[in-house]
Amino acid sequence: MNDKTNKNSIIRLFNVSKRFGGKLALKDITLDIEQGELIFISGPSGAGKSTLLKILYLAQKASEGQILIDGMNLARISSSKLPFLRRRFGMIFQDFKLIPNRTVFENVALVLEAAGEKPSFIRKKVMQVLRTTGMEKKFNTLPPTLSGGEQQRVAVARAVVGEPSVVFADEPTGSLDSKSAQAILDFLMGYHKKGATVLIVSHNLHLLERTVSGRNIEISEGRIKRIATIFQDKERKQ
Ligand SMILES: Nc1ncnc2c1ncn2[C@@H]1O[C@H](COP(=O)(O)OP(=O)(O)OP(=O)(O)O)[C@@H](O)[C@H]1O
Ligand SMILES: [Mg+2]
Repeated sequence: MNDKTNKNSIIRLFNVSKRFGGKLALKDITLDIEQGELIFISGPSGAGKSTLLKILYLAQKASEGQILIDGMNLARISSSKLPFLRRRFGMIFQDFKLIPNRTVFENVALVLEAAGEKPSFIRKKVMQVLRTTGMEKKFNTLPPTLSGGEQQRVAVARAVVGEPSVVFADEPTGSLDSKSAQAILDFLMGYHKKGATVLIVSHNLHLLERTVSGRNIEISEGRIKRIATIFQDKERKQ
């Protein structure tokens, strides 16, 4: 059961719509995301899942509606402050968005360089995160020579290396075999258990079976069709 007295919203959308030319990709989305939540976003291809994630990550602007970040109206936050806000967010894009002419190490290190971290810290931290995603041996490789699953694991490493408090993952297991998919999912669940808010877009509702508690938001034709609370009284008791 949610403890309403502890309610701590980090991102709130009010009647948000997103238009691409004449096409409405998101329609009238009202959603409240609380600190520490685990959210699965599901729905058919073209429903608007990636668009919703990009709006929450502040990578795309809403066409209509209001967005509050920590209670602040996004429309009143100057664009020069956006990179600082986004530093609290990590994003695993559906198409990875790795920089092709930079090595695996450099792709992951960029996040920490942008945050002004020291080279010695960056070296240690990047290799540590690459180890947890099983990519440390390929640290000196260029992304185009990696398999889709390997690129996905680099994208995961890049998303979490700055220890963001919110991680957005767009089909993070889409290019992986079932064993690697499980490993990435366990990694994201572990990251959530440490206190982070994690939002995962997935077609694969089997993922929900592994979830102890969270929310499943179903999107259909740009609208929220259903929000279900997942609560499975499984192995874990607190
Ligand atoms: N940059 C864009 N320009 C024009 N149309 C876009 C753009 N991005 C998304 N759309 C359109 O918005 C709709 C929603 O796209 P979106 O990528 O959010 O779907 P999705 O639910 O993530 O689908 P999938 O499961 O296939 O990844 C689609 O009709 C898509 O063509
Ligand atoms: Mg998508």
